[in-house]
Amino acid sequence: MEPAEIQGDLTEVLLSEADIHQRIAELCREIERDYEGRELLVVGVLKGAVMVMADLSRELRRHVQMDWMAVSSYGAGTQSSGVVRILKDLDTDLTDRDVLIVEDIIDSGLTLSWLRENLESRGAASVEICALLRKPEAAKVDVDVKYVGFEIPNHFVVGYGLDYAERYRNLRAVGILAPHVYS
Ligand code: XMP
Ligand code: MG
Repeated sequence: MEPAEIQGDLTEVLLSEADIHQRIAELCREIERDYEGRELLVVGVLKGAVMVMADLSRELRRHVQMDWMAVSSYGAGTQSSGVVRILKDLDTDLTDRDVLIVEDIIDSGLTLSWLRENLESRGAASVEICALLRKPEAAKVDVDVKYVGFEIPNHFVVGYGLDYAERYRNLRAVGILAPHVYS
């Protein structure tokens, strides 16, 4: 349970901590099967994917290597433009690596579509995507996402890594942000 002060900023809790953990465990069983016998590099996209990375990597019953990238999408306000700038790059050479990008959310799909192409161009053997959340109604480009946690309605959501003005990342649940917070 989140403090009442924070609860009041949400119109609805979409996913509880238990919902998220159960779904992540299911995704991990799929990932273990799909990558059996292969080394796996998971790439977390800062900052939103920190919680998913922490829980997903610890749920995996196998060796995994972890690296991080930070990117920013140029664009007005909360809209992603598809023009992406790397703020922090990987430390790992991707040549012949099996890479799994871990993201918090796919909205328009522009960021991830750019990121996948970028990592593929570095000579990776494979690049797949795992996103905790996807907003199908917001899609502008079709991105092939192998592992999706939950499809959610087209509302601005916060919690479990997702922020509004850098707040709410530390909520254990994912909820819809109340309009009074941003208007
Ligand atoms: P695109 O549109 O390129 O954008 O798929 C993905 C990035 O946009 C941010 N984003 C959100 N952040 N609540 C958030 O806190 C949301 O509802 C939301 N929708 C998109 C997020 O940074 C994601 O990586
Ligand atoms: Mg993000």
